[in-house]
Amino acid sequence: MRVALGVTGGIAAYKAAELLRTLQDRGLDIQVVMTAGARNFVTPLTFAALSGHKVITGTFGEGGKEPNVESAIEHIAVAQSIDALVIAPATANVIAKMAHGVADDFLTTLCLATKAPIIIAPAMNVNMWENAATKQNLKTLRARGVRVLDPDEGYLACGMTGSGRLTSVESIAQAVFETLNLRDDLRNETILVSAGPTEEPLDPVRYITNRSSGKMGYALAEASRRRGASVTLVSGPTRLAAPAGITVENVRTTAEMRGAMLRGLDRATMVLMAAAVVDFAPARVEAEKIKKSESGLRLELQPTPDILAEISHRRKPQHLIVGFAAETSHLLENAAVKARAKGLDMIVANDVTQEGAGFDSDTNIVTLVFPDGQVKPLEKMSKLDVANAVLDEALALRSKRVAAGGK
Ligand code: CTP
Repeated sequence: MRVALGVTGGIAAYKAAELLRTLQDRGLDIQVVMTAGARNFVTPLTFAALSGHKVITGTFGEGGKEPNVESAIEHIAVAQSIDALVIAPATANVIAKMAHGVADDFLTTLCLATKAPIIIAPAMNVNMWENAATKQNLKTLRARGVRVLDPDEGYLACGMTGSGRLTSVESIAQAVFETLNLRDDLRNETILVSAGPTEEPLDPVRYITNRSSGKMGYALAEASRRRGASVTLVSGPTRLAAPAGITVENVRTTAEMRGAMLRGLDRATMVLMAAAVVDFAPARVEAEKIKKSESGLRLELQPTPDILAEISHRRKPQHLIVGFAAETSHLLENAAVKARAKGLDMIVANDVTQEGAGFDSDTNIVTLVFPDGQVKPLEKMSKLDVANAVLDEALALRSKRVAAGGK
């Protein structure tokens, strides 16, 4: 979903950077629009770097300069593409302009042109806040459906004490999430996700690994975060960028992944073990590169520790444990056996030989398999949709457990 973040000229403008990050954490795409006044406090570059988009600073007719927008109808394009507009901080001046339908810069024009819900977080000197004109303007805006987040009381930048401080970034973000009806059904969960392959070194330059891209695990981490969970992602080597708002622990070997997972286990309420752990490691790691001339080289392999079985062995009452099974034949039978053998609440089974499933694909075709033998096949869908379906099912298991008197 796309949100326009309007920043106007107040000392609290710097807090808009933190707001932007908090909104991004929940998967929102942010287009920043700055007024000329705001640019006296923070540079557009700050917001451009954080948002990954050019910041709109255009003020029509400002000194005859071209606005830095792509086209003359950019305000309409932005107005139509956003799901919400939040203005933080909102000065007395922008509030007055909005109340009177003035459209003399990009932001106020956007206010008139958009049908998306508008949220404003005023910040100003206490006397300006209490001024009858401001009060009347806010009353007008509220009556039109604008959501006004009243400022907090406290010490103000002008040296006075009273009402006028920008309300907290968390409460502004929360208002945006509510307005967008963002799901936050995982807010009480702390989710530990593993992703990607592991690597087992053979000598300083060679290692054993597998074809896992990490996409499924990263999608699980992202979907969990978007739904309000606190997320730790333990990632083997991948080429993927870490999603915003989650803690990432990068690991290489199976032993490192085991260590990171066991460390995160106490705090976690859900474990989603999507990593493709290498099953066999060389029995010896050579300190020097093995020479080709050493004819007749034979590798002696030994099994790696089964991280998931160990996690399940250390299970606490709050834990919901989900495994993944990549199979090439007898999908459902093998998966059900694994779910029982490893003591899992659910296993996500996929046949990696199918087109549109498995390694490096952006889509997946999975069947959710439960230890009691129940199965739920899902259609072919994006890995993010698969992630959400897995999370829905995990939450349903949580509700059943709570209803049965557990955690
Ligand atoms: N797993 C693990 N540690 C291992 C091997 C696998 O934690 N050493 C986890 C995987 O992350 C996955 C689940 O166990 O969630 C099933 O993995 P899979 O490789 O399909 O099963 P294996 O137990 O390795 O059995 P097999 O290779 O015989 O199919």
